[in-house]
Amino acid sequence: MKASKGNNGLASRVVAGDQAAAGRALSVVVNESEGFEALGRSFFAYSGRAHKIGVCGPPGCGKSTLINRLLAQFRKAGEKVGVLAVDPTSPWTGGAFLGDRLRVQEHAMDPGVFFRSLGSRGTVGGLTATIFGAIHVLEAYGCQRILLETVGTGQDEVEISHVADTVLYLTAPSLGDEIQAMKAGAMEAADIVVLNKADLAGKDRALAALREAFSLAERESAGWKMRIAATSAASGEGIEELLRLIAEHRAYLSDSEEGRRRAKDQLRMELFWLVSRRLHQNILSQVSDRDLEAMLEKTSDPWTLGEQLVSGGRGLDHVGVAVSSIRSALPFYQDQLGLRLTHEETVVAQGVRVAFLAPPSALPGACQVELLEPLAEGAVSRFIDKRGPGLHHIAFHSSDIRSDMRRLREAGSPPIESEPRPGSRGHRVCFLHPKSAHGVLVELVAHA
Ligand code: CO
Repeated sequence: MKASKGNNGLASRVVAGDQAAAGRALSVVVNESEGFEALGRSFFAYSGRAHKIGVCGPPGCGKSTLINRLLAQFRKAGEKVGVLAVDPTSPWTGGAFLGDRLRVQEHAMDPGVFFRSLGSRGTVGGLTATIFGAIHVLEAYGCQRILLETVGTGQDEVEISHVADTVLYLTAPSLGDEIQAMKAGAMEAADIVVLNKADLAGKDRALAALREAFSLAERESAGWKMRIAATSAASGEGIEELLRLIAEHRAYLSDSEEGRRRAKDQLRMELFWLVSRRLHQNILSQVSDRDLEAMLEKTSDPWTLGEQLVSGGRGLDHVGVAVSSIRSALPFYQDQLGLRLTHEETVVAQGVRVAFLAPPSALPGACQVELLEPLAEGAVSRFIDKRGPGLHHIAFHSSDIRSDMRRLREAGSPPIESEPRPGSRGHRVCFLHPKSAHGVLVELVAHA
């Protein structure tokens, strides 16, 4: 594991409770600046320590005011609190939203509070994909509570439930129609429904509507029955009761299998987002102007190119190894190296039997090992007679083998064949003689 020059000692300063360091580490992680992976790894040991409370709901129900109330109560109890405001509609990240600037200032002198707004940069789904990294930083910093606020349109409750341990869904009496039309997603995701602004007229009717809506949507997961709380974040009314319900839910999580199930769900989601993001970046960075030209000229199409890109269908297709006997070579590749046999075939025209092996989790199109066993007089048997078993050739993917052959001929490295010929696995192939390929027998493979 290599430590990045720029982040030397940053992780240990965060763990020691240095707020400025936590701020810097958060920026590195969220912006995926140099060294973010190493930082993430060093913080991961602290993950799972904080109680993460997601607060979602439509605009106008007083989320920020309620979060301020909860924050003040947690601080009063001596807890260190992190607040991550997630705005999927904002393209930028790292700073504070207009409304947050005040809150940031309010708590600027308190090392027990950490605020950060995250924009939609790197979004896969509504939530920013880097939210898990941000949470790890706050947990390493020692936050015991992390409040996750979605600033968006109220469509995020399902996603926040994959990140938070306890999900509060906020609504308000003034949003009567919204309660009627409350989405199934909100009902599934919410652990506690909070009718905020309960000092407003229409409180009783709204509460009755909520109770009805949620009694219809009895959740299948046994153990926790959705609770409904009425609060006025502005006056502080009902906050004590809400805190009690939050504590109750937290106790339920730690006393039941549900806590473990949720932790796994969060890890699965973190991994999913990380992998999605990596693939996305890797694949997009591989699209070349030549690809775009090829589609423009109709020599290729989005489906063919897309398949090649997703399957890693560029670069090495396989490495060919000449062996005296596939049967005696297989145990080494399968049992000792852990590769998986993907294909076996006798290619009569070439006088060989071939076996292909790949790593167990390899995507289709990933580089394989091709074992070649001579069955009759031919190139492979001559190779073994002359040099003994060993590396025989390397094979590259070709998306357009005829044009690749033409290009090579024009460049003075003519393939041995004048036309592509059938290879194993139904593919079309050609070879470049080691004389024109710097001493290596090179194969081009066009997948069928
Ligand atoms: Co081959």
